[in-house]
Amino acid sequence: MKRIILSEQEIEKICERIAHEIDEKIAKEDKIPLLVGVMKGAMNFMVTLMKYIKSPIYTDYIRISSYYGTTRTNNVRLVKDVSFDCTDRAVIIVEDIVDSGYSMKFLTEHIKLNGAKKIYVCALIDKAVAREVPVPVDFVGYTMNENRFVAGFGLDYNELERNVPYIYEVDEDNLHKLDDILKKDSAK
Ligand code: IMP
Ligand code: MG
Repeated sequence: MKRIILSEQEIEKICERIAHEIDEKIAKEDKIPLLVGVMKGAMNFMVTLMKYIKSPIYTDYIRISSYYGTTRTNNVRLVKDVSFDCTDRAVIIVEDIVDSGYSMKFLTEHIKLNGAKKIYVCALIDKAVAREVPVPVDFVGYTMNENRFVAGFGLDYNELERNVPYIYEVDEDNLHKLDDILKKDSAK
């Protein structure tokens, strides 16, 4: 049994709502705003969100690495930078989940250095209880008030489960099953 945190339908509704909020927020921008998806976790969210945004936007992605299994490291590393020029442009960083906040702190500082005029943070899940450094989240899909590990819809457990179309809580039972799958793979 899986405890569903966000169903496919709920995710779809959230994306539609956030897209409207983004449209309103960027309506008066003179330069075309840039949507930057944080890979790989935000890839599913980015695609679903994008289709509901009506304003002209540019899209790009950035890749960082900061997480190993269910344990957090505050060690954020840039794996792939944005290819777009952010100068004088409003940039919306699209993230799957903001947890401790270290990744988002790094990303906002990095995008600021690239010359962005304004930076907005958009997260499908705000794990607010786990925050260690303050980061403002401008567009929030769902606020989690429990510090639990979740997977699905882009979010992974050791690279597994990104393809699951909904988000669920990875409990002990799920964890063992996933570990078995990983163990079998590495034994091959
Ligand atoms: P932070 O730097 O602690 O805020 O972590 C942010 C990153 O860790 C997110 O972009 C996710 O990729 C990953 N992460 C945090 N919590 C979870 C979770 O519950 N499931 C899967 N990935 C998570
Ligand atoms: Mg991520």
